[in-house]
Amino acid sequence: MKKIATATSQRAAQPELPGVAALDRSRGRSTLSPKRPSEDTSGLADVFPYYAGFAYDWARSLVAAQQLPAGAVVLDPWNGSGTTTLAAQHEGLNAIGIDRNPVANIVARLRIASFERHPSLTSSKGIPQGVSSAEGDPLAAWFDQKSIPRIRDWANHLPFLPPVESSLSYVALFRTVRALTEDFEGSNPTWVKRAKSEDELVSISASDFDSAVEREQEFLACRIYESPEVTRGPVQLATANSNALPLPAESIDLVLTSPPYLTRIDYAVAYTRELALLGVDISKDRSLRSALMGTTLIRGDAPIDFDMGSIAKLLISDVSSHASKASGGYYRKQAVQYLRDLLQGLDEVTRVTKPGGLLHLVVQDSYYKDVPVRLADICIEEAVLRGWSLVDSDPYPVRRTLTSLNKAARKYKKSEVVETVVTLRKA
Ligand SMILES: C[S@@+](CC[C@H](N)C(=O)[O-])C[C@H]1O[C@@H](n2cnc3c(N)ncnc32)[C@H](O)[C@@H]1O
Repeated sequence: MKKIATATSQRAAQPELPGVAALDRSRGRSTLSPKRPSEDTSGLADVFPYYAGFAYDWARSLVAAQQLPAGAVVLDPWNGSGTTTLAAQHEGLNAIGIDRNPVANIVARLRIASFERHPSLTSSKGIPQGVSSAEGDPLAAWFDQKSIPRIRDWANHLPFLPPVESSLSYVALFRTVRALTEDFEGSNPTWVKRAKSEDELVSISASDFDSAVEREQEFLACRIYESPEVTRGPVQLATANSNALPLPAESIDLVLTSPPYLTRIDYAVAYTRELALLGVDISKDRSLRSALMGTTLIRGDAPIDFDMGSIAKLLISDVSSHASKASGGYYRKQAVQYLRDLLQGLDEVTRVTKPGGLLHLVVQDSYYKDVPVRLADICIEEAVLRGWSLVDSDPYPVRRTLTSLNKAARKYKKSEVVETVVTLRKA
């Protein structure tokens, strides 16, 4: 049986409100970085470290710097673990977070709900045993048949659309299963392996699993309860697609967001284990994987031609004409599909933002082989084509990228990769 990470109740050093002071106005940029430090605990980032999450202090300083009036609405259409919605909530603003991945929304719900009241925990005693079977369960990719029923008892016991307490129990379940299956994580943090043989399957007794989840719940409750009370604004979270935002036109004052990059990160694969707990088997049901932006699956309706600016067109042409295998086929289709998702998302952000509203977009440039993917420039050009004007563009160097982890990709010559915070104002 694998050892479960001990739950600690380290007190999170709650940041001083950085506010406007953190903005170095002479250089027009924040002195904080959008990159979340790996050991970050501010904004409860450690309760479930989400891939490519923002730094909470940075997001909060950016929201505070706008000095928006009470009642203003902040949107993140690619909300992930909800750093934007948490930052806006703490500034007393209205926040809306949209993400297509239900796992992200459960984590975001726990973070924003965290200061409301002392959370009540789910006791293993209240969960009937022996109700669930292991048959056809997606958890069979990592757990043996004897272990699955108790894990499934827990998951089935929690309502699918969690209120505050269930988010806590769900995240505790996520953390427990993650800790038990950590051997299936490779050097690429977004690629989770499956057991190749029965010997690799994890085995855990029902009572050990119960204790582990209860410990994780206590850890989360401590982390939440220790965090000081701060100003709260209303938050709405929805599992929806950024290319069809369930929002009225011109209803948003500020958008702070970071879409998936063109780096072949599959957010469904990255959260396969959590999705399995929610009953979604991505190895059989491809609908979620295929709907996510940046997916490595090519949809049946992959577009051939649509309106795009000159930088995006150049990228497609460089990818298509690259000498390496499948560049003119699969990789061209994937890049085109990605750009269409990005542009549809931008169309939607443009539709829902009020005239004069601001958009902060955090994007990372990357490489296809040795072809630079100038994502920040593509976003600026496309936003300008949609009536936005550029206010600022702040680059931050990125030290560790997926390309640096991928041996095959290292053979191509590349220069430093940057992440850019692009700020635009809608006309
Ligand atoms: C870079 S992450 C955002 C991280 C976030 N800033 C945070 O602090 O946690 C991008 C998010 O976009 C979501 N996403 C991907 N495709 C989407 C789509 N079509 N509609 C909505 N969200 C999508 C992914 O699930 C992922 O959570």
